[in-house]
Amino acid sequence: MVSSTSSIDFAVIGHQDNWEGIERFVNGLRTPEQGKLSVEKIKSIFPFIPPRVLFNVQVKSITGSQINGIYIDTFFDPDKLDIQYSKANSSKVIQAASCAEKEGARITTLGGFTSIVLEGNFNYFARKATKFTTGNTLTAAYIVKGVETAAGQSHINLANSKLLIVGATGDIGMACVTYFKNKVKQLLLCARSLNRLENLAKFLLEENVNIKFSVSVDELLQDADVIICVASTTGLNFRDCKKDALICDAGYPKNLDKRIHDNPEVQLFHGGMGQVSMGFCFNPDYSNSIYCYPVPGIAHGCILEAMVLAFENKIESYSTGRGNITTDKIEEIYACGLKHGITLAPFHNAYGLWPD
Ligand SMILES: NC(=O)c1ccc[n+]([C@@H]2O[C@H](COP(=O)([O-])OP(=O)(O)OC[C@H]3O[C@@H](n4cnc5c(N)ncnc54)[C@H](OP(=O)(O)O)[C@@H]3O)[C@@H](O)[C@H]2O)c1
Repeated sequence: MVSSTSSIDFAVIGHQDNWEGIERFVNGLRTPEQGKLSVEKIKSIFPFIPPRVLFNVQVKSITGSQINGIYIDTFFDPDKLDIQYSKANSSKVIQAASCAEKEGARITTLGGFTSIVLEGNFNYFARKATKFTTGNTLTAAYIVKGVETAAGQSHINLANSKLLIVGATGDIGMACVTYFKNKVKQLLLCARSLNRLENLAKFLLEENVNIKFSVSVDELLQDADVIICVASTTGLNFRDCKKDALICDAGYPKNLDKRIHDNPEVQLFHGGMGQVSMGFCFNPDYSNSIYCYPVPGIAHGCILEAMVLAFENKIESYSTGRGNITTDKIEEIYACGLKHGITLAPFHNAYGLWPD
């Protein structure tokens, strides 16, 4: 564990999404003399650790500039990411936020569930010395640009396609709806709350957008040519999707059951991911046991948003609340990233990189 000494341009507040990764990380820290801990033992300790800085991060831009950051883990229990655990989880996010402030971070991003547990309520952070952002605008950018690029590679004409968005009423889901509403043949919208879906549908129908919505994904699945999954859920199984559907799973943890990969014709990539072309390094170097991806420099859009804002010296709460992400902001933050060599990640999934 480290504490920062030099000036801190950005902080990332994150969490682990599975016990397999946590076990690899914890046992990677132990010496042969200490021996390995069982998963059961780790489960009995890990969630009780208070949020703290795990490592420093150095990031380089293609412009030649360099920024310093810290990664703060909340030590959420990955089995307790549901809404019913929000109170305990939000108190950990607040502790982690104090940690970022104490370390003097200029801008701090809330990765994955750390923004969801606050349910879009950013009031607590309004008067803090460090600026907070959810990172959802750059995440949305990498999702929409990823879908457009992957569709192009797969000869899918989006203008003639039906696009299903699972989690359509969420912050990232609504950003995708706004981006694609006039670019596809029909939007298929899914979430659990009918009331929120109806409110969204009303807006879209007023603008003559061709939509269909349902709280049941099975009702929409067979029509979908392209699917974006951005729901705060896990274990969805799309057995009945079109055989050649293009799927972007951007959930953290992943929304879809791994078995979907068993259908060889379905093309699935993990979306919302970017890549730092000049790379980043951790100190201490935990890169073999934490945050491992098929090629170096890959990171979540939410994390990269803090880096891009720090490089641009744009120290502001860029993404806040729910439903505020516009297409102009998506284009702006994406373009800012490109200036620093931060771009869409190569397509990959749980089995590695997509074949060329
Ligand atoms: N790749 C990245 O860089 C990155 C970055 C940030 C966040 N994320 C992930 O992206 C996902 C969405 O984040 P967000 O901030 O947009 O969350 P959010 O605002 O809480 O929205 C979640 C959406 O999912 C819906 N939902 C939840 N459970 C569902 C289910 N079982 N079936 C269908 N819809 C369901 C919610 O509506 P109802 O409650 O009405 O169902 C809502 O529309 C999360 O998994 C998050 O961790 C990824």
